[in-house]
Amino acid sequence: MGKVIAIDGPSGAGKSTISRLVAERLGFQFLDTGALYRATGLHLRRKGLKEDSSDEEIANALKGVEIVFIDGKVFLKGEDVSEEIRTTEAGHYASVFSAKKAVRDFLLQTQRDAAINNNIVAEGRDMTTVVFPTAWKKFFLDASEEGRARRRYLQLKEKGMEITMDEALRDVQERDKRDSSRDIAPLKRANDAIYIDTTDLNLEEVLKRVLEAIGN
Ligand code: DC
Repeated sequence: MGKVIAIDGPSGAGKSTISRLVAERLGFQFLDTGALYRATGLHLRRKGLKEDSSDEEIANALKGVEIVFIDGKVFLKGEDVSEEIRTTEAGHYASVFSAKKAVRDFLLQTQRDAAINNNIVAEGRDMTTVVFPTAWKKFFLDASEEGRARRRYLQLKEKGMEITMDEALRDVQERDKRDSSRDIAPLKRANDAIYIDTTDLNLEEVLKRVLEAIGN
């Protein structure tokens, strides 16, 4: 088992960018677990599953399906879906289906397997609490709702997507409410996670704080 740096937090707190940079700096692998949930949601949507589908129906639809995250890209049954999963719609369905036990069970081992032979930086909603509760280092990245909506808005605009600030704000509000209030593996701050509010910090400042806490 490699070393695990586990990073949780709500959407738009800057987890992905920081995790990628920390991984690069330390020579660790980067694991974006949100991408795995987004690809799973995409598959279930394509198969016609709905918010009220049962765990049994979902588990059946996921049987034999391989979803992997390699070198910053996510593959669904061998198809590179890295671009397709980045829309607000894909984020919405990832959040909806991620509340299902069948989906969380399906992805648990995939996530843990990533650390078997590698040192990893894993980011998501339940890295510090459920997937890697004994992680080497734990962080919780947070930011104000407006700050997170602004970051989401800029990220999607940069990718050429149509979105307004209002839509970005609604997206973070709706997803964070659902991700924090679900019964299984909700987003919550672990007692032993280092808390960083990124609202008024730039990328370098957040990176510096994380690296300092790791002892670099
Ligand atoms: O980090 P993200 O925005 O790409 O994640 C998309 C959704 O996936 C998020 O709204 C909730 C879900 N998710 C989760 O439930 N657990 C994780 N470890 C990562 C993501």
